[in-house]
Amino acid sequence: MGQIKSIGVLTSGGDAPGMNAAIRAVTRTAIYNNLNVVGIKRGYYGLVYNEMEAFSSKSVSNIIQQGGTILKTARCKEFATKEGRAMAYANMKAMGIDALVVIGGDGSLTGARIFAEEYDIPIVGLPGTIDNDLGGTDETIGYDTALNTIVEAVDKIRDTATSHERLFLVEVMGHMAGYLALNGAIASGAEAAIIPEMETEIDQLGDLINRGFRKSKNSAIVLVAENPSTGGAMGLAQRIKEEFPEYDARVTILGHLQRGGSPTAADRILASRMGAQAITALLEGQRNVMIGIKNGELVYVPFSKATHHSSTIDRHDVEIVKILSI
Ligand code: F6P
Repeated sequence: MGQIKSIGVLTSGGDAPGMNAAIRAVTRTAIYNNLNVVGIKRGYYGLVYNEMEAFSSKSVSNIIQQGGTILKTARCKEFATKEGRAMAYANMKAMGIDALVVIGGDGSLTGARIFAEEYDIPIVGLPGTIDNDLGGTDETIGYDTALNTIVEAVDKIRDTATSHERLFLVEVMGHMAGYLALNGAIASGAEAAIIPEMETEIDQLGDLINRGFRKSKNSAIVLVAENPSTGGAMGLAQRIKEEFPEYDARVTILGHLQRGGSPTAADRILASRMGAQAITALLEGQRNVMIGIKNGELVYVPFSKATHHSSTIDRHDVEIVKILSI
C-alpha cells in the first residue's frame, strides 16, 4: 500500500446530528497531518457521478453546531451495482484520492466494506445514525441528539395526555432497533416502550394494558419503535380500537423531526473524537474498520462486525421502564 496523501470524506444514508462535527474533525485533522481533503457530495452518488470539491480548513468553518450534513447525503442505488462502483473507483483515482472516510449507518458501511474489498482501498467508517444500531460501539453519532428531541416532544405530549386522560402512542424511529424507544421511555418517564427486540417474547401491548393502564392509570405514554411487522403506533392503535375499545388512544409519529436539529454537546464531542481518530487510523495503516466507542475508549471495529447488529438491548432497562412506571 502506498503512502496516503489525499483522503475523500462523504456522508451517506440518513442524516444524523453531529455529521457536520465529524466532517469538520476529519477535514481539520487530515490537513493538520498534511493530507489533502476532498469533500464528496451526496454520499456515494458524488463518487459515481463525480461531484467532489477540494476542501480547506475554511470549508468546515462554522458547522459544528449545524444539524444535517453540509456534504448532503443520499441512498445511492447505482453504488450497489458493480458498474456503479467501477465508475466511483475511476473518479476517485482521477481525483487523486487514496483513502476514504465514510460517515453513515448500516447500509453505508456495508457499501464501504464491499468497495474496499473489491478495489483494495483503505476506508475508515464513522457510525453516523440516530438508530444506534451498529455493532461494536456503545453509541453512534446523532443518537444522543435524537433522544433529547424525543424527550422534549414527549414532555409536551404528556400535558395533553394528562389533561385528557388519554393513552398516547408515540412512534419513534430506530430502523429495526429499540434503543430510541427504550431509552426515550426511561428519559421521559413513559409508561412503556414497545420494541422489536421483545416482539417474539411477549405481547407488549396486552402486558401494558393489564399491568398498569387498566388498573390505576388514567393517562399513559407509550413509546413505540417503528416496525413494519406490527404496523408501528398506527398498527397498535388499531389493535386497541378492536381489543380494548374502552380506551381513548391517540397516535403521534415523531418522524423526521428526530433527525434534525443542532447536535448536543455529547454528539459534538463524540463526532470530533471519532473524526480525528479516523485520520489517525488511516495513518496507522488501519483499513476497513469503523471507529467505535466502548466504555469511553475509541476502538476499531471491523466493518463485518459493525454491520452485523445483534441485539444488545439490556433487559434490565426494559425492567426499569416497568418498575418506574408503577
Ligand atoms: O436510519 C435512520 C432512519 O431515520 C431510520 O430510523 C428510519 O427507519 C429511516 O432512516 C428513514 O429513512 P428515510 O429518511 O429514507 O425515510
